[in-house]
Amino acid sequence: YRSLRIALLGAGSVGSQVARLLLEHADELAARVGAPLELVGIGVRDPEAQRDVDLPRELMTSDLATLVAGADIVVELLGGIEPARTLLLDAIAEGADVVTANKALIAAHGPELFDAAAIVGAQVAYEAAVGGAIPIIRPLEQSLAGDRVTRIMGIVNGTTNFILDRMHTEGSSLADALATATELGYAEADPTADIEGFDAASKATILASLAFHTAVPGELVHREGITGVTDAMVEQAERNDRVIKLVAICERMSGDAGDRVSARVHPVSLPATHPLAAVREAKNAIFVTAEAAGDLMFYGAGAGGPETASAVLGDLVSIARRHVLGGPGRAASTHADLRVAPFGDVLARH
Ligand code: NDP
Ligand code: HSE
Repeated sequence: YRSLRIALLGAGSVGSQVARLLLEHADELAARVGAPLELVGIGVRDPEAQRDVDLPRELMTSDLATLVAGADIVVELLGGIEPARTLLLDAIAEGADVVTANKALIAAHGPELFDAAAIVGAQVAYEAAVGGAIPIIRPLEQSLAGDRVTRIMGIVNGTTNFILDRMHTEGSSLADALATATELGYAEADPTADIEGFDAASKATILASLAFHTAVPGELVHREGITGVTDAMVEQAERNDRVIKLVAICERMSGDAGDRVSARVHPVSLPATHPLAAVREAKNAIFVTAEAAGDLMFYGAGAGGPETASAVLGDLVSIARRHVLGGPGRAASTHADLRVAPFGDVLARH
């Protein structure tokens, strides 16, 4: 099979890690997909900028429109609505598939992108848009598609969890903890999105839409961030053996007029024994309750460049396999990544 042309938009915290992994693991990924994933360019504002990850200068471009035009798969890691929306719609119109981690875009314009993709038979994948490295989109979209989800509750923003954790455990100020979260690559380009709850509300919008099979309008999601959480509130919570967390809750509510959906994001004071109270640093945890499955728990890194790159690459490999096989994303190679050691060798090492 010929090489698949991958256009990467963005080389920030996440994009630079996706580029690094694509280049470093090129052979392994090609074997898994059944075709080379050729990184044809990386779209940024400033191609000359010094970056944390050393990326080949010849791949960098500020001409994102041209880069997108020749791609089989476009990976969008710019953030924000524009130019991401227009670039992805243009790419889809040309028949390209799309991978994005952009929750703001999916929450506000998901249906527009999905409809455009359906017309040309293209795919839009966005596992990294919620929960960073945690697989949560595909479980809701596929694994639980035959069940009836009734409730989702969780911590879906790594930056605010990191800030609240530092306020509780180190007595840090919100501003100092936010500065550290920004240095670590967790925060949005405009961190207002994190601390005012916009990012978590976008994620709640996406989760509720998937879980309840309905397009939930973002403006109907109640949003309250953590800027109202004071040092005094944290101290009081500590004295009462409680922990303040920013929580997203999406529920199916049954009533006489039929089922309705409620989605909200706000700080809550949880008993220190609550499972979400143990979620530290920039980790996320999402509890899903479904009628037949019962309670499910998803936990892991909710933010961070390499962690999020893992989810982006998962989408990319899955989509690329469909290109190669023309069907659902199953392994093209016959599990040839590693040879299996004889049983005795494995025993000998223990
Ligand atoms: P950054 O702000 O670190 O990087 C953004 C990149 O996009 C930069 O390389 C920047 O170029 C480029 N860019 C932005 N706007 C333009 C534009 N108008 N034209 C050309 N290039 C542009 O973002 P992140 O990597 O942190 O996040 C990327 C996406 O991933 C966002 O949607 C975010 O919400 C999502 N995400 C992020 C996570 C994280 O932990 N950081 C986790 C999960 C999702 P230049 O470098 O030249 O300025
Ligand atoms: N800024 C986001 C967060 C990135 O902190 O959760 C991951 O979506």
